[in-house]
Amino acid sequence: MKFLITLILASCVAAAPAINARSRLERRLARRAGSSHPIQRIPSSEIHPQGTPTKNEQYSSNWAGVVIANPPSGTFTAVSATFTVPQPQTTGGGSTQSASAWVGIDGDTCGSAILQTGVDFFVDEDNNVSYDSWYEWFPDYAYDFSGISFKTGDTVALSVVSSSSTSGTATIQNLSNGQQVSQYITSSSALCGQNAEWIVEDFEENGGLVPFCNFGSVSFSNANAQTSDGNSWAADIGDLIDIQQNGQTLTQSSQNGGGVVTVQYV
Ligand SMILES: *[C@@H]1O[C@H](CO)[C@@H](O)[C@H](O)[C@H]1NC(C)=O
Ligand SMILES: *[C@@H]1O[C@H](CO)[C@@H](O)[C@H](O)[C@H]1NC(C)=O
Repeated sequence: MKFLITLILASCVAAAPAINARSRLERRLARRAGSSHPIQRIPSSEIHPQGTPTKNEQYSSNWAGVVIANPPSGTFTAVSATFTVPQPQTTGGGSTQSASAWVGIDGDTCGSAILQTGVDFFVDEDNNVSYDSWYEWFPDYAYDFSGISFKTGDTVALSVVSSSSTSGTATIQNLSNGQQVSQYITSSSALCGQNAEWIVEDFEENGGLVPFCNFGSVSFSNANAQTSDGNSWAADIGDLIDIQQNGQTLTQSSQNGGGVVTVQYV
């Protein structure tokens, strides 16, 4: 129920930009067209094919990758990874298609807030490709970063660090040329610090999932999370999530050890 209310609130906020309570600086920044949301799990009775998927694999309509749903100690205070910007391809259908790769804190068992940052991939029907980077403290919108851009094959570092349950910093770096952008964010929606995740998402725009592109493969490396007691945890200890829509499995996520998580479009 709490989750449903969150979603309703989120769509109200999206429909009423005038009551956006962000700081002046953030309001000046472009609002990203789409918005990232908490995981929308598929109940086990609706998973296709019925039966036993890979041990510890779960399905959702919007998230693929890895989630650590409970910190082994303390609470999560930082999540980071690097990945190589993929070349998305259209699967047809005549409209622009998208996907987003990001890291974040919360949004699974703690669905009331997410501190996250990532890069969107867009591809039109002629296979023209573009990228955007953003930060978001759900349930507020995502905001585009300015002053950084990407092209296929760039190596990108993503990180979010919470300085309290209601404040934190999102940072993105193009490791290929050293460009870096960073944003301090505050929110009235407190993080629980219960989930750390490395995700490829079919995000939402105008209340629906955007047409999902063939993003090829996103491989997060150095996928690590820090906890409040100073420990560091690799994504290797998390659970795999894959995307199913209309009974079709669209992604194949895997843990390759050493903090490497690969999400492949299938
Ligand atoms: C793709 O890019 C080409 C070259 O810039 C342009 O002519 C074409 O209109 C673009 N396709 C779409 C669907 O915008
Ligand atoms: C990221 O860095 C690489 C290497 O210097 C550069 O080729 C690329 O253009 C950078 N991305 C952008 C769009 O600035």
